[in-house]
Amino acid sequence: MDRSGPAELLEIAIEVARDAAATAYRMRVEGVSVAATKSTVTDVVTAADRAVERQVVDALRRLRPGDAVLGEEYGVGEAGPVGPSGVRWIVDPIDGTVNYLYGIPHCAVSLAAEVDGEVVAGVVCNVNTGEEWTATAGGGAWRDGQRLRCSTETDLGQALVATGFGYEPARRAHQARVVAELIPHVRDIRRLGAAALDLCLAAEGRVDVYYEKGLAAWDQAAGALVATEAGLLVAGLGGLPAGPDLVIAAPPALFKPLHDRLADLDASGGP
Ligand code: IPD
Ligand code: CA
Ligand code: CA
Ligand code: CA
Repeated sequence: MDRSGPAELLEIAIEVARDAAATAYRMRVEGVSVAATKSTVTDVVTAADRAVERQVVDALRRLRPGDAVLGEEYGVGEAGPVGPSGVRWIVDPIDGTVNYLYGIPHCAVSLAAEVDGEVVAGVVCNVNTGEEWTATAGGGAWRDGQRLRCSTETDLGQALVATGFGYEPARRAHQARVVAELIPHVRDIRRLGAAALDLCLAAEGRVDVYYEKGLAAWDQAAGALVATEAGLLVAGLGGLPAGPDLVIAAPPALFKPLHDRLADLDASGGP
């Protein structure tokens, strides 16, 4: 049996991510505080971010010893950037750490599996509600057994737009200027605080579109697959793939209008 097929990898991802979400939930109930700051004073990490990533890495080592793992808190695991199996797991142990810290029930464990550099399976588990979004490449996007389809909105002026901000002050200032220019041209803006969940909400039309500059692989790997499998186009500016410069996720009819507006506003520029 091929143990590296998308369905098998998804099964493992779901098992590991569910346990991780349970740990995050339990640790939040017990009480959390800031353990350290990272890139800036507003970029915080809690003991739970670290414990959850450790748990995920340990579980994957046990279940899939030949695989590589990339995580937000510990980077590349001992197996190195690529394991002998060609599979690499990408984990954001808690996406939405600031929400987690403040007890806002909108944060998630995000876990994706890449085979030879392509994301083929992903799961995003909301730590508080237990909602679970999953996708496999070519196998559709699902939430709790329901197939997902993105919004059918065709008018950017009627679109609910999710976005987020990085932690670095000059970058945030640029991102705020982009939002200020964009908001008169859309229905409204949401800054919900967890990129993986933003992509999953777009996958089921709970927001129409999403964009953000500055995402890392762990922020978007699972969510972008869920969004793509739900029918959104996920890409960067000017035909580039989605990446740190910009991620745009939009239904086909809204992609070009949003793309062109963001290009005019230099959304991928600035610091
Ligand atoms: C952050 C969240 C946030 C986004 C930031 C991310 P973290 O991830 O996804 O919504 O705007 O760009 O860094 O630090 O909470 O895992
Ligand atoms: Ca994140
Ligand atoms: Ca995180
Ligand atoms: Ca973080």
